[in-house]
Amino acid sequence: MKILVVGGGGREHAIARALALDRSIELCAVMSRRNPGMARLTARLLIEKETNVRRIVEFATGQEVEYAIIGPEAPLEAGVSDALEEAGIGCVGPSRAAARLETDKAFCREMMNAHGIAGCPRYRVFHDVQGAIDFINGYVGDLAIKPIGLTGGKGVRVMGEQIDRPQAIEYVRSLRGHVVLEERLIGEEFTLQAFVDGKHLVPMPLVQDHKRAYEGDIGPNTGGMGSYSMPDHGLPFVTDEDYRTALAIMKDAVSALHKEGFPFRGILYGQFMNTREGPRVVEFNARFGDPEAMNVLSILSSDFGDVLIHIVEGTLSPSNVRFEQKATVCKYVVPQGYPETPVMNALLTIGEYGGAFLYMANIEERDGILYTQASRTLAFVGLGDTLESAEAIAETAASAVTGHVRHRKDIGTTALLEKRCAHMRELQ
Ligand code: AMP
Ligand code: GLY
Repeated sequence: MKILVVGGGGREHAIARALALDRSIELCAVMSRRNPGMARLTARLLIEKETNVRRIVEFATGQEVEYAIIGPEAPLEAGVSDALEEAGIGCVGPSRAAARLETDKAFCREMMNAHGIAGCPRYRVFHDVQGAIDFINGYVGDLAIKPIGLTGGKGVRVMGEQIDRPQAIEYVRSLRGHVVLEERLIGEEFTLQAFVDGKHLVPMPLVQDHKRAYEGDIGPNTGGMGSYSMPDHGLPFVTDEDYRTALAIMKDAVSALHKEGFPFRGILYGQFMNTREGPRVVEFNARFGDPEAMNVLSILSSDFGDVLIHIVEGTLSPSNVRFEQKATVCKYVVPQGYPETPVMNALLTIGEYGGAFLYMANIEERDGILYTQASRTLAFVGLGDTLESAEAIAETAASAVTGHVRHRKDIGTTALLEKRCAHMRELQ
C-alpha cells in the first residue's frame, strides 16, 4: 500500500515513523525542505511548497498513491485534500470547507454559537478597525485578540497578560480590524486530539503542550516547546467530568460540521482551557498538534495505516485504536534565540540518545552534518511507566545535543506538574 505524507516537521516525522512500522506500507512525502529523518523512511520525496496543489496531485497520481495524510494546516486551507480526493486518493485531512474550523476563527465561534455547542467563550467578531477599537475601549476585563485567518500559532495576543490596552489597539489596527475579540479564559490548558471519519470520533490520550519559550512559562509564544502525557491517558488537573465535557464538545463539533454539509475527516484537535467553570474551547485545529502528535503516535499500538483506512472509509470505531499505557515526554531542541532571533546554520551534533525516539524537524543535513534553521530543530520523546522515567529519557537525550541550541528542562518534570495541579486547586 502506498501512502503520501504532506509536510516535513516533527509531527510529520512521527506520522511517517508510525506508518513505517508496517513493512507493507510504502511511503511518499511532499515537503518544502528536506527532513533528513523522514527522507530515510520514504521511498519517494518531492521537495515542493506544501500548498502547491497541482504539483502535489501530479506527484501523488504519478506515484499511484492510494491514501494521503496531511500534516500541517496550510495545505488544508489551500485545498490539497479536496484535490487529492477528486483524483481518487483517500485523504486523511479535512476539505478546505471543514478545515475552516481552524483556519477561520470567526467561523469556528459562529458555528459553536449557531449549534449551541458548550464551552464557547463570550466573543465578538469584527471586520472594521473603529468597531474593534470602540469595543476594546469600552471593555472591562482582559481580552484575547485573535486575527481571523492562519498565523502559525503566534497570532493571539492577550490584553491584560502580554499587552496593555494601547498595544491592543495598535495590534487591532495592524490587523485592519479583522479580529475575534473574546473574554480571556483563565485556567490550565490541555489538548484532546481525536481520529474522525466524518461521523465517528475516537479520542487519543490527553496531552499538555508548553507554548512559552523559556522555563517557568516565560518569554514569547512559540509553536510549542514540548509536551507530556500520562500512563492513564488523562491529566491530574482534568477530572473525569471535565474530560467527558471536552469529549462531548468535540463530538458536537463533528456533528455540527456534518449537518452543515462539510463532514470532517481527519484529525480533530481541541485546545481546551480548564477553567473554574470547566473546559472552554481555546481553539480547534484540523490536524495533529506539533508537538502533541509525537506524544500520542509514539505509543499508538494499533496499525496506523489501518486507522487511516477506517477514517477514509467512514468505518472508524474505538476497537481500531489502541495506545500503550505509558507516559510520554516530548522535548523540542530549538536554535538559541528562537523564536525571535534564532541562530541559523549553526552546526549541531546529536549525542547518545538512549531509548528516546528522535524526530527531526526544521534541520538541514549537508554532507552528513546537521545545521539549525529558523524554526524548531528536532525533538526527543521518552516513554516510561511513570512520567518521571519518561522525562529522564527525554531530558538525557536533549541534553546530549551540542551546538547553539537549547530546550526546556522543566517540561514533564513532577515539579511542573505539581505547579499545574496547584494552579487548578487555587482556581477552585
Ligand atoms: P491559538 O493561536 O488560538 O492557539 O492561541 C494561542 C494561545 O493564546 C493559546 O494557546 C492560549 O494560551 C492563548 N489564548 C487563545 N485564546 C484565549 C482566550 N480566550 N483566553 C486566554 N488565552 C487564550
Ligand atoms: N501545539 C500547538 C499546535 O500544534 O497548534
